[in-house]
Amino acid sequence: MNNPLISIKNLHKKYGDTVAIPNLDLDLHKGEVVVILGASGCGKSTLLRCVNGLESIQGGSIHMDGVGEFGKDVSWQQARQKVGMVFQSYELFAHMNVIDNILLGALKAQKRDRAEAEAQADKLLKRVGLFERKTAFPRELSGGQKQRIAIVRALCMNPEAILLDEITAALDPEMVREVLDVVLELANEGMSMLIVTHEMSFAEKVADRIVFMDKGVIIEQNTPEQFFRQPETERARQFLNIMEYTK
Ligand SMILES: Nc1ncnc2c1ncn2[C@@H]1O[C@H](COP(=O)(O)OP(=O)(O)OP(=O)(O)O)[C@@H](O)[C@H]1O
Ligand SMILES: [Mg+2]
Repeated sequence: MNNPLISIKNLHKKYGDTVAIPNLDLDLHKGEVVVILGASGCGKSTLLRCVNGLESIQGGSIHMDGVGEFGKDVSWQQARQKVGMVFQSYELFAHMNVIDNILLGALKAQKRDRAEAEAQADKLLKRVGLFERKTAFPRELSGGQKQRIAIVRALCMNPEAILLDEITAALDPEMVREVLDVVLELANEGMSMLIVTHEMSFAEKVADRIVFMDKGVIIEQNTPEQFFRQPETERARQFLNIMEYTK
């Protein structure tokens, strides 16, 4: 097998004296979709935030193939251009319209030409069905629309991988589908992704591999078929029962 695209080794993360992740190893291969599951507080968001440097880490390394170790060979700012992230809360700037939100990183961090970046943004907006909202402000958009804009913003940086942290958790049920469909399309096109979600049927559909965490530790990983039908640990069985997703 080729080198992993992203290789997380011996990751150790503390908040003050509280250990959130004692020692974690995880690889993401090119084109692979890994879904991270686990109960509230087990460290899923912490893991994603460490991968693109939104949290300082107290030990271990995050390495990208062909790029180097984040925070060492390349700055975290450069790393964040390689690894996009989408959050539950969209994080769009309220005072900027859709296209300016989308282009911010491409123009500021990547110093790209506006016409070139905007042409790419237009294409992506068309793909998610929001081209006609290009000059709208975030307050004029539904939650599902805002989240699709946040995805476009991440893609417009041409990342090697993207991290999605419960991106549908704040949405009304009727808007969940339109956002998840965009992610499924990205997966089918070969985007490498680490996804945290509580949508079990989506997880089963989109994942190449399920990683199940408990107290900052990966205690089980498997194909979705195996994980959802025959979880190996009692903790995973309990989790699936609580999520009312047993096969
Ligand atoms: N900024 C912080 N300061 C202190 N402790 C934190 C901070 N962020 C997270 N934690 C703690 O780290 C642990 C892991 O939290 P994290 O947010 O990563 O969990 P999670 O799996 O994403 O949970 P959820 O499913 O509720 O989003 C928890 O015990 C949490 O209380
Ligand atoms: Mg979380």
